[in-house]
Amino acid sequence: MTVRKIGILMNGVTGRMGKNQHLVRSIIAIIAQGGIRVSDELTLMPVPILAGRSEAKLAALSKEVSTAATGPLPWTTDLAKALADPGVQVFFDASGTLQRAAFVEQAAKAGKAVYCEKPTAVTTAEALRLAEVCERAGVKNGVVQDKLWLPGLRKFQMLKDQGFFGRILSVRGEFGYWVFEGTGHDLPAQRPSWNYRAEDGGGMVIDMHCHWRYVIDNLFGNIVAVSTLAATHVDERVDESGKRYRCTADDSAYATFQLDNGIVCSFNSSWCVRVRRDDLLTMQVDGTKGSAVVGLRKCWIQHAGATPKPVWNPDIDNPIDFHAGWQEVPSNIAYDNAFKIQWEQFLRHVALDEPFRWTLREGAKGVQLAELSLQSSRERRWIDVPFL
Ligand SMILES: NC(=O)c1ccc[n+]([C@@H]2O[C@H](COP(=O)([O-])OP(=O)(O)OC[C@H]3O[C@@H](n4cnc5c(N)ncnc54)[C@H](O)[C@@H]3O)[C@@H](O)[C@H]2O)c1
Repeated sequence: MTVRKIGILMNGVTGRMGKNQHLVRSIIAIIAQGGIRVSDELTLMPVPILAGRSEAKLAALSKEVSTAATGPLPWTTDLAKALADPGVQVFFDASGTLQRAAFVEQAAKAGKAVYCEKPTAVTTAEALRLAEVCERAGVKNGVVQDKLWLPGLRKFQMLKDQGFFGRILSVRGEFGYWVFEGTGHDLPAQRPSWNYRAEDGGGMVIDMHCHWRYVIDNLFGNIVAVSTLAATHVDERVDESGKRYRCTADDSAYATFQLDNGIVCSFNSSWCVRVRRDDLLTMQVDGTKGSAVVGLRKCWIQHAGATPKPVWNPDIDNPIDFHAGWQEVPSNIAYDNAFKIQWEQFLRHVALDEPFRWTLREGAKGVQLAELSLQSSRERRWIDVPFL
C-alpha cells in the first residue's frame, strides 16, 4: 500500500467555516478515517498546515484541534514562505470574501492547486478574472458548493431520477432563521458582524444566491431570469467587541428565478425570520405526479394519488391533518459530511486527475446571479441572466 501525502495550506481557518467545516469535519476527519482509500494499492493522505495573521489564534487552534492521528498541526503566518514549499500542493482559502482575490492570485502564481469558499468575489468580472488567473497558471481549482451533497438534496435527486415528480412545475425555497442583533441581554449575535456590512463583503444576496445558483442549476434547470427584492430589515446591530454598527447590507431577499425549462423557483432568504417549518432550508417541489419537501437531511413526499381534497371553510378547524399526508424518504445509506465529500473529490482531482466540475469558473455563476439579483432589486425589474 502506497500512502501519497498531499500538503494543504489552509488559510483563514480560525474563522467559523474554516475551522468547523473544513478543518475539523473534513480534513481532520479524513485523516482520522485513515485517508482517502483509492484502491488496495493507494491511499491519499492530507497533510494540513494552518495559515493566518494571528500567531496566538493559530497556536491555540493547532492545540485545540490536535488529535491522536494528527498531533498539534503546524501553522504559519508567513504565507509566501509556505507557498514556496514544494510539499504544499493545495492552497485553501476560507478567509473573508474581499480578501480572497489576493490569496488566490498568490497561490496560483506559486503553482498550487486552489480550492476556496464561496463567493469567490462580489462582482462577476472579478470572479471570472480569478478563474482566468488559475486557468492561465494551469492550476487545478475549485469552489465549495457543499449543499449539493446534503442528504436531503441527494434524496431529491434520487426521486427525480426515478421519475417520481412527473413534470416539475415549481420550487418554493424558504431559508433562514433569526440572527440576534446583539442588543438584547445575554443574546449575542451568532454570525460574524461583517455579514451585515456591504463594505466588508456582507449581505444575504451575495451570501446565499451563490448557493441557490448551483443548487437550482444542478437540481432543477438553468436560471435565465431573476427578479429580487433585497431588504435591510434590521438597521443596527452589535459587533464582536460590543459596539453598535449600522447595517449597510441586505439581511433578507425575496427572489423569483425563471428556468429555461419553464420551472419557476421562488426563494425567500432571511436572517430576520423565526422558524416554523421542517428545517432551516426547505424547498417544496411540486410536480404533476408528486411533490417533495426537501430539507437539509430529510425529504418528505406526497404522491399524486395521495393528494387530499381540501375544502375552504374557515368557520371550522380544518379536518385534514396536512402534515400527516406526507411520507419521509428513508436514509438507506450513511451520509457523510457534505463539505468532506467535496474535499475528497477535489483531492482525487488533484492527485489522480479525476474530473471535478465545480471550478472557479463554475463558481462565478453564483456571483453573477447575486450581482444581477442586486441589480434587479435596485432597478425594481426582471433581469435576464446571460449564459456564462
Ligand atoms: N459554504 C458555506 O455554506 C459558507 C457558510 C458561511 C460562510 N461561507 C464563506 O466562508 C468565508 C468565511 O466566512 P466565515 O463565516 O467563516 O467568517 P469568519 O469571519 O468567521 O472567518 C473569516 C476568517 O478569515 C480570517 N481573515 C480575515 N482576513 C484575513 C487575512 N487578510 N488573512 C488571513 N485570514 C484572514 C479571519 O481572521 C477569520 O478567521 C466567507 O467567504 C463566506 O462567504 C461559506
